Amino acid sequence: MNAQPEKKMHVSKLAINHRDLLSLETLSVDEINAILDLAEYYVVQNRRKSQTNALLKGLVMVNMFLENSTRTRLSFEMAAKRLGADVINMTVEGSSIKKGESFIDTLKTVNAMRPDLFVIRHSAESSAQMAAEHLECPVLNAGDGTREHPTQALLDALTLRRHFGHLEGLNVSICGDILHSRVAHSNLQLFKKMGVNVKCVGPGELMPLSAGGTQDMKKGLENADAIMVLRIQKERLQQSLSFTEQQYFDTFGLTAERLAYAKKDAVVLHPGPMNRGVEIDASIADDPKRSLITLQVEMGVAVRMACLDLLTRSAR
Ligand code: NCD
Repeated sequence: MNAQPEKKMHVSKLAINHRDLLSLETLSVDEINAILDLAEYYVVQNRRKSQTNALLKGLVMVNMFLENSTRTRLSFEMAAKRLGADVINMTVEGSSIKKGESFIDTLKTVNAMRPDLFVIRHSAESSAQMAAEHLECPVLNAGDGTREHPTQALLDALTLRRHFGHLEGLNVSICGDILHSRVAHSNLQLFKKMGVNVKCVGPGELMPLSAGGTQDMKKGLENADAIMVLRIQKERLQQSLSFTEQQYFDTFGLTAERLAYAKKDAVVLHPGPMNRGVEIDASIADDPKRSLITLQVEMGVAVRMACLDLLTRSAR
């Protein structure tokens, strides 16, 4: 038997036991591995030009982004289209939310049209859960306020697993605004489940007590295999910061000098959008030997294809 049918047989057996993908909290280690394994299959498929897949043909995905997004929105749309689904994009501009319609009424309206998949990004922490309660199709959380961003954590895990060949035992430092970052919150859960050692580093006012982080970049980055840099979530700040952007860069910005605190070949991740000269120096962001940032974006499409595939398996 050649390798291809074997691979197909393997991917067809992968499963997750949930209707929705709302958080990392409810995913088991086996389910995380199933998503990553299937995503690997889609990475290969996406790199073959002219590859078309009609797996989700006839299905309609509503992609509702009520907060700004470049990568995640495009990536969900790309993933669905690569699998043959039709996609309807919704933003707050141009929707009846602008006319005063409530979020719940909007959800009920969408549900009445019987979509097959629903992706939601919203600034409220309860939004994805609320969507799952009002929609009868699988709901995927594309970021709910400061709470969770599960597909981002999964794509970060896939990026690290592809680079290092494994996740268990890696040392990852998360650097920046941990307090307001749904990316950090989902990643902290995923890393714990997958046996990744995590250190958090950043200013005290952006560090939750539970993270047990440090404000000392040398301590925070020492021995790291990978550094995940986060931007300051200005739109979520309750009060103004005690430092300027320049002061932040001078103390916490990831420069070549600070990267040298980590292991010799340590790599750098950033979920984007990046603020060069604030949380990361441009020379690091653009260094192909150290930066996995573009690879993260590519992995995002494959991870979302895997999630859309797995969540529609029982309905197909
Ligand atoms: C992140 C988000 O929206 O939470 N971006 C993303 O999805 N790639 C991070 C951020 O906005 O800082």
